[in-house]
Amino acid sequence: MRLTIRNINEMKRKNEQIPMVTAYDYTSGMIAENAGIPMLLVGDSLGQVVLGHDTTIPVTMEEMIHHTKAVVKGTNKALIVADMPFMSYQASRENAILNAGRLLKEGGAQAVKLEGGTRSASTVRRIVEVGIPVMGHIGLTPQSVNQMGGYRVRGKTEQGAERLIEDALDLQSAGAFAIVLELIPNAVALRITSKLKIPTIGIGAGPHCDGQIQVLHDLLGLFKEFTPKHAKKFIDGSRLFTQAIQEYVQEVKSQTFLVDSQKSKINNIKPEEITTK
Ligand code: KIV
Repeated sequence: MRLTIRNINEMKRKNEQIPMVTAYDYTSGMIAENAGIPMLLVGDSLGQVVLGHDTTIPVTMEEMIHHTKAVVKGTNKALIVADMPFMSYQASRENAILNAGRLLKEGGAQAVKLEGGTRSASTVRRIVEVGIPVMGHIGLTPQSVNQMGGYRVRGKTEQGAERLIEDALDLQSAGAFAIVLELIPNAVALRITSKLKIPTIGIGAGPHCDGQIQVLHDLLGLFKEFTPKHAKKFIDGSRLFTQAIQEYVQEVKSQTFLVDSQKSKINNIKPEEITTK
């Protein structure tokens, strides 16, 4: 039985921190769940870390459904939240409901996430009304990168902070079950978190949120070139993976590559010992 949004809301009530990470396929979903992650996000960050785009803008519904299906297959306890990609919910509320529905019906997710505060609240309300749990996302909203002119901290002025608080309250009133706070000052995250009944999940928003989310590839150090300031690299995955593959290359080249099964007698029969019977 998978965790539900009730379990996640209960964690806030019990003051239990909520660890979240992104997953994009069967294997990463399985590993993250086995490591104890209760709620996974199939993030549209897959546009960058899996598909190699510069931004999340090109990600399609088909791609989100494809990756969500894989994560769902690799897990059986975690609550799976699927990101609604750019232009899958902005054009009309009807469109938003149909696309959110596809992520549940075809992808197998239990909830969706979409970006924007007050401006997205009426869309969130309509999706929630048809029975689909929605996670909000405010602060830095990567799908608006062209409008914001880059990935910058939001809510640095008192006016900006008030705006974010209003955004969060509007999403809560619209029925969102949790809200991601991305790249906002710690003090603003604290103000928002203490005003809300629903959990806040921070990324670059300091320690006062009800949970934290990280992009899996940042956590595992899979990008050699770039780790965002708000990410903590727990292992240098890029170096370790490269090293392992280099060792394999060496073994193949020197003809010393043998897996255990090839070391058994049966595999070591000499050509002249092979019979036709
Ligand atoms: O797509 C994503 O990975 C996200 C997280 C950064 C919150 O939206």
